[in-house]
Amino acid sequence: MENEILNLDIQSNGVAIVELHRPDTRNALNLELRQQLAAMFEQLAASDTVRAIVITGGEKVFAAGADIRDFTTAKTVDMYLRHTEQYWRAIIDCPKPIVAAVNGYALGGGCELAMHADIIIAGKSAQFGQPEVKLGLMPGAGGTQRLLRAVGKFKAMQIVLTGKIFSAEEADKMGLVSEVVEDDQTLAKAVEIATQIAQLSPIAVEQIKEVTTLGANMPLDGALALERKAFQILFDTQDQKEGVNAFFEKRSPQYQGK
Ligand code: COA
Repeated sequence: MENEILNLDIQSNGVAIVELHRPDTRNALNLELRQQLAAMFEQLAASDTVRAIVITGGEKVFAAGADIRDFTTAKTVDMYLRHTEQYWRAIIDCPKPIVAAVNGYALGGGCELAMHADIIIAGKSAQFGQPEVKLGLMPGAGGTQRLLRAVGKFKAMQIVLTGKIFSAEEADKMGLVSEVVEDDQTLAKAVEIATQIAQLSPIAVEQIKEVTTLGANMPLDGALALERKAFQILFDTQDQKEGVNAFFEKRSPQYQGK
């Protein structure tokens, strides 16, 4: 709907498309949008039918970051009491795979939002950056830490210390995006990938996401043990038997999520 700041389209194939819609502010993430986004991700996480989520800002811009108007008079205690970490947490805690479709600017909180996804598809003209330093600020929703872990110290430091804006091609080279496509194909590609994932066993998919995400912050031995346990757990699912049987019966598996 035109007046909504957040749109949701749940397709019959189990793919949910979440679209930020504050075009007048380049999809700046004000408090209301963050709250709605968090509530939407909680709803999608709890849904029995949604298997994969695509997040987009539409054809022109992904998100230009936090709404700078919210910062003009805010003091430390105001920022503390907003507890915006709870809104980001709703996205991070979503067990379902998230594919970001990025066109145009993904700056500041927009770049951080993209980094909350599991897969990032960028249109050729997409531009990324953490420009907070230019406002006398710094990233506050994972920009220093997620970027560091995604692209390594020297790329991350250059980005956060200078606030430089960089292209989809550069993002691709440094490993910040999964794939770059023509601008008019970004959403279609993201939906295509989400659709492929939605056809797989949702339990296997969730286990893979959880182990990969948690493992990234763990010592290798613990992470490998976590992987091994999750692998073993899957042997108790109907989906695992269906997948193996379908292979030998030379047919497409029908996964039930059980
Ligand atoms: N918060 C609030 N409003 C924002 C915004 C933000 N993060 N980003 C853009 N807007 C608003 C502008 O104030 C402008 O409003 P106006 O039409 O009332 O003047 C409108 O969106 C369009 O922005 P404009 O700068 O004219 O568009 P542009 O296409 O020339 O440039 C950007 C787009 C994203 C490069 C530029 O707006 C920008 O640098 N935004 C801030 C990015 C940033 O610093 N993010 C980190 C915030 S911590």
